[in-house]
Amino acid sequence: MESDPRKDYAQYMWAPYTQMGDLAEEEPIVAVDGDGATIVDSLGREFIDGHAALWLANAGFGRTEIVEAATEQMHKLSWFPSFGGMSNEVAIALAKRLVQLTEPEGMARAFFSSGGSEAVETALKMARQYWRLSGHGGKFKVISRRKSYHGVTFGALSATGVTANRRLFEPLVPGFRHIEPPYCYRCPYGLEHPECALACAEELERTIAFEGADTVAAFIGEPVMGAGGVIIPPEGYWQRIEEICRDHDVLLIADEVITGFGRTGEMFGCRHWNVKPDMMVFAKGLTSGYLPLGATMAREEIFQACIGKWGEGREFRHGTTYSGHPAAAAAALENIRIIEEEGLVERARELGDYLFDGLRELTGMPHVGDVNALGLIARLELVADKETREAFPSSELAGLRVNRGMLKRGVIMRPLGDVMSLSPPLVITKGEIDAILLALAQVVDEL
Ligand SMILES: Cc1ncc(COP(=O)(O)O)c(C=O)c1O
Repeated sequence: MESDPRKDYAQYMWAPYTQMGDLAEEEPIVAVDGDGATIVDSLGREFIDGHAALWLANAGFGRTEIVEAATEQMHKLSWFPSFGGMSNEVAIALAKRLVQLTEPEGMARAFFSSGGSEAVETALKMARQYWRLSGHGGKFKVISRRKSYHGVTFGALSATGVTANRRLFEPLVPGFRHIEPPYCYRCPYGLEHPECALACAEELERTIAFEGADTVAAFIGEPVMGAGGVIIPPEGYWQRIEEICRDHDVLLIADEVITGFGRTGEMFGCRHWNVKPDMMVFAKGLTSGYLPLGATMAREEIFQACIGKWGEGREFRHGTTYSGHPAAAAAALENIRIIEEEGLVERARELGDYLFDGLRELTGMPHVGDVNALGLIARLELVADKETREAFPSSELAGLRVNRGMLKRGVIMRPLGDVMSLSPPLVITKGEIDAILLALAQVVDEL
């Protein structure tokens, strides 16, 4: 008898971020095929993937060109390390390409890893090493934001501001501090923009003053906060954060794992506000998920701090085996070519506006509290009471219920608590966006 992958999933896998006890209710989707913004599961059902898998299939599914580029590379040279004076030509070519792409931000070097958490971990260690070798060894603390998501490894998790992710693994790494996010719909200070005078950004300056600028190495933030509820900051926020970092010699790390490679309608999220970070962190859209890859970009000064001679101990003693994997690098180069040649960044901007218009039309519904979008990353926040913005009791699992309703109608979204998140492949069509909006209107109406 042929095996049923859905049963085997429940029996043999221990899946990430999954309550395995509730799988029967969740109706697992085991994908077997994908094309554009659509996937097909093991039962032959088609779904519009409104979430680009995990915010990453930017170039869409079924891209033969990327598959061929990676395959050709594997036939030629399957893998070779980049440690200690060796490397491979395609990793080098990708480093050059990424430095060229980030020229407006002033990045000078690319360091490779296997995904977002590792790339964040790399940035945090680079920041500490930079200050240590520049004669400011006391600068080791990292400030990030509540509701931020930077990954799961201990350093990245320590920067992450999602309580549920953190609590079972405490104590975390010492030296991490969290400030309030720029969450205007539920402003932590009960203020309104612009009268708030960006109190959430000013908190960074107060926190640096409280900790002592001579102890703070870096601030890390996602240009648009993803997993914490798709929080799009108000105008002026990032400019003020950058200014505070500069004023106090605090490195600014832009975690572009979700926002990079076109997602927000700019090649990189921080470009919306003309912010020049000291480091940038990439993964996900870097290969559109065809192979695992992360990259940490750094300014020349940070790199230069680690320059010396063997034996002096200045080199960056960090790197995972798969750093600069040639097949992943080949996939990334081809993916970047597609994003540029097919104008997917501009497409994200145009279709993002179209999606946002459609979401705005839903704001008349009684349980739609807030909608927002920047390019093709969008939020719809469900509320029990629109006037008071009162949330549903968590026991009602409103987001999860809407998500189940959407799946029944053939649309994949992502419930982040009661925020329904959309982040489709950048190749999604207007027709598919219409289908998502129609299903959303029906399911929210049922709520
Ligand atoms: C902003 C951000 N940083 C880092 C990560 C961690 O990336 P990975 O899951 O590849 O380790 C994620 C994952 O969603 C993310 O959204």
